[in-house]
Amino acid sequence: MTLSRRDFLGAGAAAAATAVVSGKAGAGLVEVVDRSLARKSAASRPVVVASANGIRGVARAYDMITRENADTLDAAIAGVNIQELDPEDQSVGLGGLPNAEGVVQLDASCMHGPTKRAGGVACIEDIATPSLVAKAVMDYTDHVLLVGAGAKKFALQMGFKEQNLLTEESRQDWLRWRACLNGNDAWLDHTDPVVIKFHTGTINMIALNAAGDVSTVTTTSGLSWKLPGRVGDSPLIGAGQYCDNLVGGAGTTGRGEAVMKTCASFLTVEHMRQGMAPEQACLKTLERIVAMTEARLLDERGRPRFDVDFYAVSKDGRFGSASIYSGSRFAVADASGARHVESAYLYPRAERPRTPRPACVNQAR
Ligand code: GLY
Repeated sequence: MTLSRRDFLGAGAAAAATAVVSGKAGAGLVEVVDRSLARKSAASRPVVVASANGIRGVARAYDMITRENADTLDAAIAGVNIQELDPEDQSVGLGGLPNAEGVVQLDASCMHGPTKRAGGVACIEDIATPSLVAKAVMDYTDHVLLVGAGAKKFALQMGFKEQNLLTEESRQDWLRWRACLNGNDAWLDHTDPVVIKFHTGTINMIALNAAGDVSTVTTTSGLSWKLPGRVGDSPLIGAGQYCDNLVGGAGTTGRGEAVMKTCASFLTVEHMRQGMAPEQACLKTLERIVAMTEARLLDERGRPRFDVDFYAVSKDGRFGSASIYSGSRFAVADASGARHVESAYLYPRAERPRTPRPACVNQAR
């Protein structure tokens, strides 16, 4: 996706409005006044849910669960591996957009409901499938999170192969971003108007089998052009993803800084524990995120200048997703096949505050 410099997250085209929201978002009093059009999923198991970019992945994971009796975490990780290894997905793994220094640094975590185990890696470099490294942390160590050079060293010891993750397309995008940063530095600006990519794209997947066992995984290259060492929500258990085999699972994509402050995947599972349906649980979490947003990131109506998407599956097989702004979709695979479904939302996308694109003017030299 192509976005302006300060639009930390965007999504596709605006969709028809299907819910109406009123209330003072800044005060945390967002009220969804029309729930009549909220998508209600029937309980059905198995089911696999992911962010929209996981459409191929949910099909693979569902197949593995139903045909091969695969473990839910193995299936979900195989699903996200498709995106991690796809050089055209610039939000994750190979081809992910790099940090401010042009280095691809990846974050991932996973959780296995039946065994109550979890693992994660943050700021790992040169390994295309951090989701599998996260699982190796879970399977082979007494720890939950490894970071940076230690995470890479561990991955190499576990047999993962080192490779350059910066594709030519992502390198060119990074060069464009760098050239537009400052009109007075030593880098010449581009002569043509440039479109700079910004995103916090990520893939989250939640897999539930016929027995009601659930697992979750989230993997990402994080915020493009981030400060080296920046860690997002994705590798943090309870932030980027969470599951409890008694309740269900939840995960997220979007601005990680907002998700971390609210322990938002944990919160979504807790909402389901209290009896909320998955979509309702996601909306409730987003309300909390809005309420916890600092003033500099809110417009005059108290609406965030960023987006966050949530996905949830309950143990009985219901599923749902919601975003702050309309227009998002998510991927589902169940007995009806693999498909995209429109997410619920708090606000119409047309009302999302925009910030100006950075000027990238030709420097006189
Ligand atoms: N949610 C991905 C990130 O912020 O890194």
